[in-house]
Amino acid sequence: VTIRLGIESDVNPLLALFDAVAAERVYIGTEPGYDRELYARRFREMIARPEQTPLFVAVSGDMLVGQLGIFQHAEYGPTIGMMVAAQSRGRGVGRALLDKAIDWARRFRMPHLSLLVFSHNERAVSLYEKAGFVEIERYERDVTRQSGEVWDTLLMRKEIA
Ligand SMILES: CC(C)(COP(=O)(O)OP(=O)(O)OC[C@H]1O[C@@H](n2cnc3c(N)ncnc32)[C@H](O)[C@@H]1OP(=O)(O)O)[C@@H](O)C(=O)NCCC(=O)NCCS
Repeated sequence: VTIRLGIESDVNPLLALFDAVAAERVYIGTEPGYDRELYARRFREMIARPEQTPLFVAVSGDMLVGQLGIFQHAEYGPTIGMMVAAQSRGRGVGRALLDKAIDWARRFRMPHLSLLVFSHNERAVSLYEKAGFVEIERYERDVTRQSGEVWDTLLMRKEIA
């Protein structure tokens, strides 16, 4: 698996990855029926500004198997969103993507990196803790799902030395 910055030809595979992970309905805020045009526009904006808002992709052969984007959150500063395709999980792809994000933050002297994660997402929380992120806030009943369920979110942060 190779980690590299995203390029224009990654936009459709990125949408397919979001479709698949959204359809799982467990791990990410995005649910089926999301605005694909808007997401495609956001991917292109990130691809155009790799130093400010890097979008990393994990590629195995000619398959896009994971992604990690860093966007500038108005309140939290540089903030990560990431996912790995179901069939490629548990093999170190997530960790490799996260290491790239931490390298980027060091290189551009970011004071910290933040992320939001559903509190039930144990695999993700465990990965983030191993990479040095700590929970700094718990938002109870933060997100209402299409099912009507309401889920808690954790804000996690890593200080960058
Ligand atoms: C969370 C996610 C990004 C992690 O990526 P991954 O490639 O599966 O993770 P890795 O293989 O790099 O594993 C890194 C660490 O995660 C944890 N982990 C991995 N699989 C796990 C499992 N089945 N159960 C518990 N922890 C697990 C471990 O701490 C692991 O460290 P280790 O290798 O020392 O055991 C990925 O599983 C995923 O995309 N899940 C669905 C979408 C999602 O949750 N995105 C994050 C939203 S905030």
